[in-house]
Amino acid sequence: MYWYHNETKHSYYSVRSNPNQMDWALQPSTYKAYPNSFEKFELDIENPWHGIIYYAASISTKKYYPTGTHRFLRVNPSAGALYPNELYFQARGIDGFEDGVYHYEVESNQAVLLYRLKEGEGIEPYMGYETAMKGILFLVSAVYYRSSWKYKNRAFRYCLLDAGHMLGSLESAALLMSRETSMVYDIKRRQLNSMFGFSSREYFLSGAAVASPMEESVKALNFELIYVDGSGTFEQNEHMEIAYRQTSHFLEKQVEKKSPNFDYEKVRFKESILKRRSQRGFEGYPITKAEYLKVMQVITEPILSDCDEEVELFVVLNKVHHMPVGLYKNGKLLRNEDLSQKAGYLCLEQYSLGTQGAMTFFLLSNAKNYQALYQKAGIIGQRLYAVTSYLEIGCSGIGAYYDDEVNAFVEQEGMVLYALAIGR
Ligand SMILES: Cc1cc2nc3c(=O)[nH]c(=O)nc-3n(C[C@H](O)[C@H](O)[C@H](O)COP(=O)(O)O)c2cc1C
Repeated sequence: MYWYHNETKHSYYSVRSNPNQMDWALQPSTYKAYPNSFEKFELDIENPWHGIIYYAASISTKKYYPTGTHRFLRVNPSAGALYPNELYFQARGIDGFEDGVYHYEVESNQAVLLYRLKEGEGIEPYMGYETAMKGILFLVSAVYYRSSWKYKNRAFRYCLLDAGHMLGSLESAALLMSRETSMVYDIKRRQLNSMFGFSSREYFLSGAAVASPMEESVKALNFELIYVDGSGTFEQNEHMEIAYRQTSHFLEKQVEKKSPNFDYEKVRFKESILKRRSQRGFEGYPITKAEYLKVMQVITEPILSDCDEEVELFVVLNKVHHMPVGLYKNGKLLRNEDLSQKAGYLCLEQYSLGTQGAMTFFLLSNAKNYQALYQKAGIIGQRLYAVTSYLEIGCSGIGAYYDDEVNAFVEQEGMVLYALAIGR
C-alpha cells in the first residue's frame, strides 16, 4: 500500500486522539480570480460549448445557515464544500471561443483568456496528443491549502476525489451536447505547473478532452503566466507535496477505449444537474429494484481514459425492494444479513447516511497509479450523484470512514478510496 495512503487512515482512535482542528483566522478563499487586465467574458449558457463548463463547475445555489451566514454551492460536490479544484481549458475551432487557453472564474461565471493560440501550437503535446484537437481540452488543478486547512494530511485524498468529481461533472455536461469525455491523467505536470506560474501552491492533477483529432500536427506552446493566489491564506503541507511528486509518474498504463453508454433524457438530465445536492441524512425509505439496477448500470459503464485502474465496488444493501439485504461485491451477494448498523459505523458513525440510506458503497483498489485510481473513484462517485439526482434519489459522498475496519468488514486488503450512500 502506498505510504501516504497508509499514513492518512482514520481509525476509531485516531479521530478521537487527533481531531481536526481548524484555525478560523486562516480560513482560505475558495475562489481564484486573475486580474482584470486579462480579457474576461461571461459564459452564455445558450452556447453548448459554454454550457459544458457551466453545467460542470458553476455555482448552482446559495445556502443559508441558522447563524445568518450563507455559502455558494456548486454543480460539482466537494468534501467540506472547500472546492480545492480549478478548471482551465484550451478551446480550438469552436463557436463562442477564440482559440486560446482560458481559466474558468467560478465566482463571476466568466472565462478568462490567459493566452491566445498562435498558428501550429497548443497544449495538446502536454496531454499526449500529436495532432491538434478540435473542441475543448480541460486541465484540472488543486489549490491544496483550501482542503488541507481543514483535512490536514488526508486532504490529498480529497483533492483527488474532488478532481474526479469535476471530471465526472464534465462527462455529464458533455452528454448534454452528445459528446464523449476522455480522461487524461498522464499530463506533463512539471512543465504545466511551471508555465501556469503555480508556485508550489497549486498543482495539476488531470485533464479531459471533449474534442476530436484534426489532421494538423501541433507543437507544444510555451508561456509564462504570473502567479495568482488562489487561497488567500496558505500553510505548506509537506506530506501532500511529497505524495504529489511521488505519484506524478505513471507506470504500466492501461488505456480504456470502450465508450460508456448512458440513456438520459436530455431536458430532464440538464435540470437534474442543476438540482443536484448532497443529502445530509436519509429518512430510511427504500428504493426500488429498477432504481437499483439503473444505478449499478451507470456506475459500472467504462470510463474513457489513458490510464484505467481497477476499482472494486462493495455495496451494502440496506433497503432495496425485492433484493436480499447484505454485502455485495461487484454485484455478487457475499453475505446475506442486515449490515446497515455496521455500514453506518464504518462511515465514521455517520449513521444517518450509512445506516439510514438504502445502499452504502465502499470503493477499494490495489492498483499502482495513485492519482489515476483515486480520481477514478471520484468519477464513479459523480456518476452516482448524476444518476441519483436524475432518479430523484438522495446521495452523499463520504470521505471519512474507518479505513482498516472497512478492509476487515469486506475481507479484502487494499486501499479504501471512498464511501458513498444513496437513499431516501
Ligand atoms: C469527496 C467528498 C467527500 C465527502 N464526505 C462527506 C462526509 O463524510 N459527510 C458528509 O456529510 N458529506 C460529505 N460530502 C458532501 C459534501 O459535504 C458536499 O458535497 C458539500 O457540502 C457541497 O454540498 P452539495 O453537494 O449539496 O453541493 C462529501 C463530498 C465529497 C465530494
